[in-house]
Amino acid sequence: MTTLVKTEGISKEFSSVRVLDNISVEIRAGEVFGIIGENGAGKSTFIKILSGLYQPTAGKLWFDGQLVEMRTPADARKIGISLIPQEFNLVSDLCVYENIFLGEELVTKRGFLDIAAMMERTRKLLAELDVAAIDPSARIQSLSVAQKQMVEIAKAIAFDSRFLIMDEPTTMLTSKEVEVLFGLIERLKTNGVTVVYISHKLKEVKRICDRVMVLRDGEFICLEDIGDLSTDEMARRMVGRELKEIFPPKREVPGEVVLSVRNLSVENLLHDISFELHAGEVLGFAGLIGAGRTELAETIMGLRQPKSGSITLNGRKIQIRRPWDALRAGLSYLSEDRQGSGIITSFDVVRNVTLASLKEYAKPFISQKAEIDKTKFYADRFSIKVPALSARLEQLSGGNQQKVSLAKSIDTQPKIIIVDEPTRGIDVKAKRDIYNFVRELAQSGLSIMFISSELEEIIGMADRVLIMRGGRIVGELPSEKLSEEEIMYFATGIKGGL
Ligand SMILES: Nc1ncnc2c1ncn2[C@@H]1O[C@H](COP(=O)(O)OP(=O)(O)OP(=O)(O)O)[C@@H](O)[C@H]1O
Ligand SMILES: [Mg+2]
Repeated sequence: MTTLVKTEGISKEFSSVRVLDNISVEIRAGEVFGIIGENGAGKSTFIKILSGLYQPTAGKLWFDGQLVEMRTPADARKIGISLIPQEFNLVSDLCVYENIFLGEELVTKRGFLDIAAMMERTRKLLAELDVAAIDPSARIQSLSVAQKQMVEIAKAIAFDSRFLIMDEPTTMLTSKEVEVLFGLIERLKTNGVTVVYISHKLKEVKRICDRVMVLRDGEFICLEDIGDLSTDEMARRMVGRELKEIFPPKREVPGEVVLSVRNLSVENLLHDISFELHAGEVLGFAGLIGAGRTELAETIMGLRQPKSGSITLNGRKIQIRRPWDALRAGLSYLSEDRQGSGIITSFDVVRNVTLASLKEYAKPFISQKAEIDKTKFYADRFSIKVPALSARLEQLSGGNQQKVSLAKSIDTQPKIIIVDEPTRGIDVKAKRDIYNFVRELAQSGLSIMFISSELEEIIGMADRVLIMRGGRIVGELPSEKLSEEEIMYFATGIKGGL
């Protein structure tokens, strides 16, 4: 097999801290090349170098036999390299087709923007990704996170590239969309496209990759044929030791009802939602993309207004008109779109952790020491890897940013916490830390609404699961009846149909 990309001694330092150390590797033409490693291992940094976003501190890079020096992503694009980034890189005020063709607009013979052609091409791309429901002229801000992810993918494949890099493309997707993406990868591969695939979902890596490289603390650990590594072995090489028992034991007896939602409806989105949440319970919410789980969380948190229905907290009916009301009532929310509403990437780590709970630190002046101590506690608890506590959040790896947003939502001392896809982009070991922590919160009497598209995680964590479809709750399963099949029956409408 021929080599498409070759690196020799690639290293990267940020203010003299080495985050990538001497990586020499060859990526074969037409293969799907996996990269795995813990949060902060250097995966994104490596592929940012391959796609012209970062310049290496040292080392050389060959593309198709040519020594290349890429100064910008445009340089990379010119030679056929494109990237689906880990964090969305879309302009939210612009519409879908404008984003796809941003900087590479199609023009008519007379030099005008060829809007019709761009719309048509966008429509084709979206149809190929099986998301024809997305309107090419819709503004990005009106899309769900899953739809934004699909637009990022469409953007990357819009121009025939020979080398397509995907940095965690599936964290926001449910199994159906993952299948569509995998179908696409297979087709691209048949057409000779080489793919780099980064993911923490080791089963996906096992399925789609031909070879996999493991990085740990910026260092090359190994590169193996996928057949030679089980998912357990992958985890072991990433972490450097054995990993077992990822889910903590569940709770037997739930406490009294703390939250009761009755006949909650939101125009066009939620229909007649009723459920109860008990003290100490981890209540799972399963469903496909668009089932209404995030909308339900947003309504409870005062981000959307219900047209009817009621919310009762500890026996008292409450009105939640804005997020502040929810926060004051003891509710906290870890949103799925951390960039949209979770954190402020230009602030430092400490300030992000204490963002929603700042008044707790003001007695009356803000105690920086208390803030720092608390941040250190979370950093330790969730193994948050930071260059320094004073680092801006944008300097953290994706998974570490996610851990910071979780810390932020817990730091408000809530009674009820709603977590929406809490472990997206999180490595296996840190996932286990988070599961344990969530279970401890529950043991101490907190109630948790646990929204997740990862069935394994829902099954492993939830004491009870509600399944949503089309803005309704269509099924409920107790812990002992949980299985992936059973959840999918309800989620897809085979069971619990109307
Ligand atoms: N611009 C930057 N300034 C300083 N440090 C940085 C910068 N970008 C990345 N780093 C550091 O480099 C290390 C590697 O980060 P990278 O984003 O490559 O990790 P990753 O393997 O992609 O992790 P994840 O699985 O969480 O996405 C981290 O410790 C991170 O804090
Ligand atoms: Mg990353």
